[in-house]
Amino acid sequence: MREVVVTGGGTGIGYAIAEAFVSLGDHVTITGRREQVLKEAAARLGASCVPFNAASPVAVNEALPHLPERVDVLVNNAGGNTNLDRRQSADLMNVAEAWWANLNANLMSAVLVTTALAPRMGKGGRVISIGSIAARGTGSGSYGAAKAAMESWTADLAAELGPRGITANVVAPGLVVDTEFFRGRLTDDGIRARVENTRNGRPGTPSDVADSVLFLASAGARHVTGQVVHVNGGAYLGR
Ligand SMILES: NC(=O)c1ccc[n+]([C@@H]2O[C@H](COP(=O)([O-])OP(=O)(O)OC[C@H]3O[C@@H](n4cnc5c(N)ncnc54)[C@H](OP(=O)(O)O)[C@@H]3O)[C@@H](O)[C@H]2O)c1
Repeated sequence: MREVVVTGGGTGIGYAIAEAFVSLGDHVTITGRREQVLKEAAARLGASCVPFNAASPVAVNEALPHLPERVDVLVNNAGGNTNLDRRQSADLMNVAEAWWANLNANLMSAVLVTTALAPRMGKGGRVISIGSIAARGTGSGSYGAAKAAMESWTADLAAELGPRGITANVVAPGLVVDTEFFRGRLTDDGIRARVENTRNGRPGTPSDVADSVLFLASAGARHVTGQVVHVNGGAYLGR
């Protein structure tokens, strides 16, 4: 039975990823900041849960004794566009805080959790980080920049972990509906505009992303490392 850790596994894409691993018989630990959300999700999934802020080095250190002693698959899914929760202003302090928030939520969370758990991984291990079309396509300011940095860091991570038989890849979704990402503010027009950019004429679902993660975690993906797998219905062509 594989030991799988999914950060941000209490909702949305992370929940679907956790569910997919549970359905294969793996033991899954989900993480997130909201303890109650996490506990309820873990009970529904039949998973374990450890609440902590993945972007805080102190919180990650404190969580370590509660996380599995052996980790086979780490999915760095925690994140989101923190600008959706902030008021924008040109005040430089506000600009700096907004950028730090997105870099912390999306980049540092993955860097810190991976650095902490990599010593617990062995041959055949997998690190899969959830990026975004925003790293390549439309941009999205500090959010897209954070996801682009995740891609660069993953290339380096693949080289660092490769000699130990561990792969590191990014799965970069396009629009995925039925998650908390847009904070209920995604309009029908917003969905339509994004779907128009796809080749298959539909938005993504959490399970579209989960299935790609399952592949990268499988034995068959052993020679796939340092890559970005684009899961977006062709809205961005990663050729
Ligand atoms: N939905 C999309 O269209 C889309 C597209 C491309 C990429 N993505 C990416 O997919 C990933 C999952 O997003 P989603 O769409 O499933 O949205 P979501 O439902 O909001 O899921 C994000 C999860 O991450 C957790 N999280 C956020 N910051 C955290 C932190 N600092 N420490 C620990 N946990 C944290 C949240 O839980 P707590 O709030 O309880 O911590 C939540 O469970 C994100 O990385 C997002 O950037 C989403």
